[in-house]
Amino acid sequence: MSDDVSGKMQNNRVTVYIDDVPYQLSTDNNLLAGVLSNKLNLPYFCWHPSLGSVGACRQCAVTQYMDENDSRGRLVMSCMTPVVDGMRIGLTDKASAKFRQQVIAAMMTNHPHDCPVCAEGGECHLQDMTVMTGHSARQYRGEKRTFTNQYLGELVGHEMNRCITCYRCVRFYKDYAGGKDFDVFGSRNQVYFGRQKDGVLESAFSGNLVEVCPTGVFTNKLFSAHYTRKWDLQSAPSVCAHCSIGCNTSIGERYGSVRRVMNRYNHELNGYFLCDRGRFGIGFVNSMARIRTIKGVNSKVGEPSVGVFNEKSFAKAINEHSGESFIGIGSARASVEANRLLKCLVGKENFSLGYTNLEMQLALRHKQLLAQYPQQSLTGMEHRVHQGSEAKEHDLVVLIGENIAQTAPRLALTIKQVLRNSARDKADSIGVKHWQDSAVRTYAGNTTTPLFSLQAQQSEFDQQANGALILSVAQIITCIDCLTAMLQTEFNSHVVLPLKTLQSKTVASVNQGGSRQESITKDLSDQESKFTLLLASTLSQAKTPLIVTGLSLKSPQLLHAIDNLMSCLSQKSHGFAPELTVVAPECNSVGNLHFLNEHNLSIEQVIEYCSASYHENKIPRTSLLILEQDLAQLSAQQLQQLRQHCKTMIVLEHTNNQLTKMADIVLPVAAVSESNGHFVNYQGRLQRFSSAHIAVKPIMENWVWLGLLAKHLFTQQELNFASLTQLQLFFAKHGEAWALQVLTCQQQNRRVARQTHRASGRTAMTANQSVHENKTFLENTNSQEGLRYSMEGDDANSSHNMPYTWAPAWNSNQAIFQHQQEVNGVLNHQGNENLLNLSLSVFFDDTHEASVEDKLDKLWPCKVFKRDGELTIIQNIPWFLAEQQSHNLPEFVLMFAGNSIEISTEITRKNGYCTGDILKITINEQQMFAKVRVNKSLTKNVVLVSLFDLPMSINNLNITAKNISKATTEEVTVFQQVEGDRRKTAQQEKADILIRLKKQDQTVPITFFSDESKSGGNTNG
Ligand code: SF4
Ligand code: SF4
Ligand code: FES
Repeated sequence: MSDDVSGKMQNNRVTVYIDDVPYQLSTDNNLLAGVLSNKLNLPYFCWHPSLGSVGACRQCAVTQYMDENDSRGRLVMSCMTPVVDGMRIGLTDKASAKFRQQVIAAMMTNHPHDCPVCAEGGECHLQDMTVMTGHSARQYRGEKRTFTNQYLGELVGHEMNRCITCYRCVRFYKDYAGGKDFDVFGSRNQVYFGRQKDGVLESAFSGNLVEVCPTGVFTNKLFSAHYTRKWDLQSAPSVCAHCSIGCNTSIGERYGSVRRVMNRYNHELNGYFLCDRGRFGIGFVNSMARIRTIKGVNSKVGEPSVGVFNEKSFAKAINEHSGESFIGIGSARASVEANRLLKCLVGKENFSLGYTNLEMQLALRHKQLLAQYPQQSLTGMEHRVHQGSEAKEHDLVVLIGENIAQTAPRLALTIKQVLRNSARDKADSIGVKHWQDSAVRTYAGNTTTPLFSLQAQQSEFDQQANGALILSVAQIITCIDCLTAMLQTEFNSHVVLPLKTLQSKTVASVNQGGSRQESITKDLSDQESKFTLLLASTLSQAKTPLIVTGLSLKSPQLLHAIDNLMSCLSQKSHGFAPELTVVAPECNSVGNLHFLNEHNLSIEQVIEYCSASYHENKIPRTSLLILEQDLAQLSAQQLQQLRQHCKTMIVLEHTNNQLTKMADIVLPVAAVSESNGHFVNYQGRLQRFSSAHIAVKPIMENWVWLGLLAKHLFTQQELNFASLTQLQLFFAKHGEAWALQVLTCQQQNRRVARQTHRASGRTAMTANQSVHENKTFLENTNSQEGLRYSMEGDDANSSHNMPYTWAPAWNSNQAIFQHQQEVNGVLNHQGNENLLNLSLSVFFDDTHEASVEDKLDKLWPCKVFKRDGELTIIQNIPWFLAEQQSHNLPEFVLMFAGNSIEISTEITRKNGYCTGDILKITINEQQMFAKVRVNKSLTKNVVLVSLFDLPMSINNLNITAKNISKATTEEVTVFQQVEGDRRKTAQQEKADILIRLKKQDQTVPITFFSDESKSGGNTNG
């Protein structure tokens, strides 16, 4: 593994003679990695660039010679062999080649050879390695070992007979991702990889098994259900839209429907792994809830219909609204380009980001933090960086007020690796290299980097934490304030560590430290006080602590407290700066921060504005133009008020929601897989996503719709852009930094093929109509995109925006080594680092803290008064539903165990509730029902809810005890009915989607070969 965070070539290279030819190999990694980094073909199975080496499969054997006179040598496993200057190895020599051939022949004795019906066929690492070793015929004629497969849930299929016992799956799932429900069972030649019994895989990373397993044991069930071979996919480089991490994805499409998402290697972010929300959640684009026709415009000039868009009719109809005054409401899940264009259309005084007053304050605090504390990439957090002899790796992790396993799963996977720093260090101290995975684990055992967790709900990190508390948000803030105050004092820091074992002793000795600490911690309970003292002591000794927080608890005060803590730590640090990571709520939340300033209207202000103009003469005067926004955080009353007092409501949206139901006009926009644009991730990284296919009209990209509105509604013809590049150029010419950055970093005029070189049309689904593969899109069209709907064009390797991973002889995703400068390094054609500069506006610069608070309260007032007896609702929805778009994937709905509410023993006792009772909960005037679970570790006023209909944008909400009551018998019946119906509907929808997509495959019109210009750029319908 490259120890260099930048991934640039290292100097620690030595000369190794491979088949008598000198090569430069890095001593930071093993011999196999060095060979692959030099683009030489050497088969392997059990080694993985992120998982390291265990030497289990014996496939990577090479001959190592003592010197140039040694003609015999000895076989060594290259993945277990360190690189030494001057070493000589044989790759093509007879002995090692024969050995490798025999190893694979042995592996294949039990393999079913079912490639033609295997979902992995054509992109199988086992197939590639079999060809690479020259094993072409099987001699074994005996009976094969067979297994019974397991049901592993809605997402991952299981076909154990294909297993070659490489152990990668269990090493990834259990060792790397920390999963507890998957293991290896059996003995000798009967080795089984799976769960103890059938059941849904619990890990949020189970989908990576599909990519990690070198053969077809684990398959993507959704892809298999609507299957196509890799070589028939048209792929596009995209960015995951399901959280703010911005993992890079490759979306594969055929016949106008998205088939799957695969990991797209990004050295700085996701590396080789995605979370399951990102991998499977993309299915929402095929949902039955997608909006496919125009509402409220076409109906005036004819029936709405799919596949048709008549601009003249649209212009005539929309023109009726041209005299109206519009407020634009943007969104954090729409692209930078679309939000900017909307703001430009309505004017900065009439623009809202779709945030409430509270969210505006939160966003401002967020922006303030990002402007001060650069956000590390995931690789930056994970990899070990050496400065001279001193390690600069994170030696402490503190998670505060953000359940990252829920809101940013890929970050949680990274943190799990950061927590192994101490184990690697320990092994390092006796000369065990970090890539020697099994040796590190054997020697270092459960050694972990210190971890503290201060949350409003349980998280999977609690168990391994040195200290973990579940508190209300107010208590968390008090703890942080106390912590900061303690660190500011002459804190007696040498009394603690090692942590866990000395905890009680530590607290006692710190307490003896003097009355100063006692007075600081007087607002804390005993437990909180002990925790805070221990954390303060550990922090004061840590050299490179990593603090992780986020916005999901919706508390600007929490961010403010963390800001204070960070500035205190920065002043007290011992040479290295403490690092802060802030998880943003949505995929483009940070992009919107760029447009955030004091002119932005909050949603309350928009409502007020509409109401004021309405009350003047009882006629609505203000109209709304809403971009990909559901305003789910508003109460029913607020929504009603907004609707009642606005004249015309125009909504641009891809999937039905409460606003599309109440809107006068709904314009169907393309989802992420059908669009182009940029999202800005949690760090401020501007990342381009490209369309995998063109949507069926009237579905169009959001910026295209806005352009048409510019022309026909706002009479601003100059804002109706013919391409996204023109849009970017327009804003660049007006000096906007983001647009200049986008244009500078964009590779111009590349025409990269969306299909691999193996594309052939041999598996044409419509062979009954034509033996040729039908094209849903014309080749050479969409010249702005830089991608061709064809296997013709520049190969993916020449672009930093690789649509898929493939190289000659490497058909699986492991072809990535052919495109990296070295194993785990940057891509050969890595794009420029593209971090948006998020400086605060002048308005907020150099302002004393008190006045910032005053200004925030003046601009977006949101005083929250806490009354006695109030309960705080905290979201505890599972990771797969912790983002709104994923609610539209039936498989995720089926995985949901049902509404539940966790309450403390105290509340249970006080109200006479029992586990299993059904409670009625009223939140924002909406009634919901949930089954009770008693949680002994909850603080008395916190209530954890997992409610299907409660959007993530509602969190840390105060309700009175009256809002929760026992459901009546009739209500319990309704609840059971609703729960059952949700499952039935999801089952039905899953089946319906498949039927619709398969029908669509069969009805791809041959006429698609017609000229796009004549068909208006239209696609399948
Ligand atoms: S299931 Fe796949 S990854 Fe696991 S041991 Fe078998 S071949 Fe290897
Ligand atoms: S961590 Fe976030 S961005 Fe990455 S794959 Fe998961 S949902 Fe997508
Ligand atoms: S890859 Fe080296 S032994 Fe498996």
